[in-house]
Amino acid sequence: MSELILGIETSCDETAAAVVEDGQIVRSNVVHSQTDLHARWRGVVPEVASRSHTERILPIVDQALSEAGVGPGDLAAVAVTQRPGMIGCLLVGLAAAKALSFRFGLPIVGVDHVQAHVHTGFLAEPDMPLPALALVASGGHTAIWLVRGRGDTERLGTTRDDAAGEALDKGANLLGLPYPGGPAIERTAAGGDPRAFDLPRTLLERDSLDFSFSGLKTALLYTLRPQSGAPMPTPTGDVLRDLACSYQEAAVDVLIAKLRRAAERHPVRALCIGGGVARNARLRERLQQDAVLSQLHLVLPAMSLCSDNGAMVAALGSHLFQSGEIAPLELDAVATPQAGGKARRPRR
Ligand code: KG4
Ligand code: ZN
Repeated sequence: MSELILGIETSCDETAAAVVEDGQIVRSNVVHSQTDLHARWRGVVPEVASRSHTERILPIVDQALSEAGVGPGDLAAVAVTQRPGMIGCLLVGLAAAKALSFRFGLPIVGVDHVQAHVHTGFLAEPDMPLPALALVASGGHTAIWLVRGRGDTERLGTTRDDAAGEALDKGANLLGLPYPGGPAIERTAAGGDPRAFDLPRTLLERDSLDFSFSGLKTALLYTLRPQSGAPMPTPTGDVLRDLACSYQEAAVDVLIAKLRRAAERHPVRALCIGGGVARNARLRERLQQDAVLSQLHLVLPAMSLCSDNGAMVAALGSHLFQSGEIAPLELDAVATPQAGGKARRPRR
């Protein structure tokens, strides 16, 4: 008998629900992005986000169930993002999961959002060769993980300041491009010269697998700011294109350099990527061209599995459910990610 898990995700600005069968077959994956709602503030406004989740969550869950052709009674469990994220947003998903649990007698599984991104490789390729490296690069997180198996992961390095997506969002803002900045920079950079502007690649200490992106954003600011102290002009045309292209290249260079370091130090067989920045075509191209990284089995998940979604929550939830990690109804939202890498029992 197949096992159906409903995954619910509301940690940031996507209201999402999905049904996954046996931890690997995506039966439905419904995502409502609030991007338009937050665009004028150029960032996610927590109160606006949680209100929108509240309005959307039940219709989204209904849609996920009906697209999968199942009812709540067919489910084995409800998996829900419990951490990390904005508390008001997480609470909406938790409330929906608890209501379903209470009404239909379904077990609840609490899922760590970052671990769900780390495990996306298994959803894209259930037989991903192991051990593997996983890059999670999003608006809130940028880290490299060593993946020994499902639920057995170790963080090798993380950002000391901005996340990669955050750096792209802030850079886009300086360039006068819309939010979210990553896709706007990618579109604007098309056909540009990646070497036109000399922007820094911060690699930290020789052996460090940590990241730092704040210097990149500051360097762009100084590149744009006129010496005279006059108001900063908004770049246009070829200059804007080359600035976007150089900025994107600098961010991608750092991600590639750190992945190379990690691959040289850890004997891995595969490399998978997750998080919104993993949608970037230049990053994907560079991975496929890189002399070291292209030798690994590259797992480049579908775009819909990279940005926030319920399928990744259901897939990791399925593994946790199989391991008996059932949460109590008092399961609470936690703002911070799990300490350490193991996808363990969530804190009560
Ligand atoms: O994983 P995600 O959807 O949400 C978070 O958990 O943060 O990631 C959103 C981030 C944003 O910073 C956005 O600018 C970036 O991912 N992003 C991209 C692309 N699409 C989204 N960055 C580069 N290229 C893209 N195509
Ligand atoms: Zn995310």
